[in-house]
Amino acid sequence: MNLSKFERYPLTFAGPTPIEHLPRLTAAIGAGVEIYAKRDDCNSGLALGGNKLRKLEYIVPDAIAAGADTLVSIGGVQSNHTRMVAATAAKIGMKCVVVQESWVPHDDAVYDRVGNILLTRLMGADSRLVDEGFDIGIRRSWEDAMQSVRDRGGVPYPIPAGASVHKYGGLGYVGFAEEVRAQEAEMGIKFDFIVVCVVTGSTQAGMIVGFAADDRADRVIGIDGSGTPGQVRAQVRLIVDNTAELVELGRMVRDDEIIINPDYAYPAYGVPSHETNEAIRLAARTEAMITDPVYEGKSMQGMIDLARKGFFPAGSKILYAHLGGAPALNGYSYTYRNG
Ligand SMILES: Cc1ncc(COP(=O)(O)O)c(C=O)c1O
Repeated sequence: MNLSKFERYPLTFAGPTPIEHLPRLTAAIGAGVEIYAKRDDCNSGLALGGNKLRKLEYIVPDAIAAGADTLVSIGGVQSNHTRMVAATAAKIGMKCVVVQESWVPHDDAVYDRVGNILLTRLMGADSRLVDEGFDIGIRRSWEDAMQSVRDRGGVPYPIPAGASVHKYGGLGYVGFAEEVRAQEAEMGIKFDFIVVCVVTGSTQAGMIVGFAADDRADRVIGIDGSGTPGQVRAQVRLIVDNTAELVELGRMVRDDEIIINPDYAYPAYGVPSHETNEAIRLAARTEAMITDPVYEGKSMQGMIDLARKGFFPAGSKILYAHLGGAPALNGYSYTYRNG
């Protein structure tokens, strides 16, 4: 496997993201498994960081080489991804247009004023609210935004939702797997499972390719947050195949190595269930580890429930990939008004 042949523009702090043991969460779950977290939510000084920066590090060199002057992307109103694209544009001195669609059926008086969208606007991005529902595919509104940049004489660089179906979208999380292997060697332990939230797909797809190199891709347990797991699975498959070829994995990843659990996305993308909220509170109250109602709260819920159901054999060491997302909590002020 060869990741180093790809140019990487550093947007994250130098060195690996920390892996920490979570003893109080481990005890509270009480399922005979040990819980650790890899803190990709603390990976950068750019606008609170998160998983998208690992992906964007491999995309920025292509945007610069293309002679672009404007990054154009898309997400929901409280999209972490559009915040990270806005941050990247500010950092590298490009302009930014982001389309923010109404992906979440959630009412909160300040939903489009706080958290991610506030930071996105603060960093100078042209944020355009569009009244369209949830879809991880290619959208008309995004193509229109690109045309609007061309119409004013600019050169747009397209970054799809979640930076996922970009040709280099999966590379960043191949790097995550390489990092984990080095940290395992240093710590003298080996993780039995990695739990990760999946929506647009390239985070888990990159991990699958990265961990396929030591034959444990099927230990990456994707917890769907989209509520459209069929579409997500197809997208992960596509990104796995493309990424495996890019890094010369040297073999096909089998379908049974792609594990996506659809059981925790209810009631809808962006809407937390009672169980999601309980998981968010448990992580916050035992470890002061903040997870959000759209993504990480659902993978936290999935990890807790699977552990308590005995899905992970006793003694398993589980690595929870914390991908960021906390700013969205501000859009749920009423839900958490009493904690
Ligand atoms: C905080 C957070 N966690 C998880 C995900 C899911 O990652 P991906 O879209 O690569 O599947 C995202 C983005 O969609 C995110 O912002």
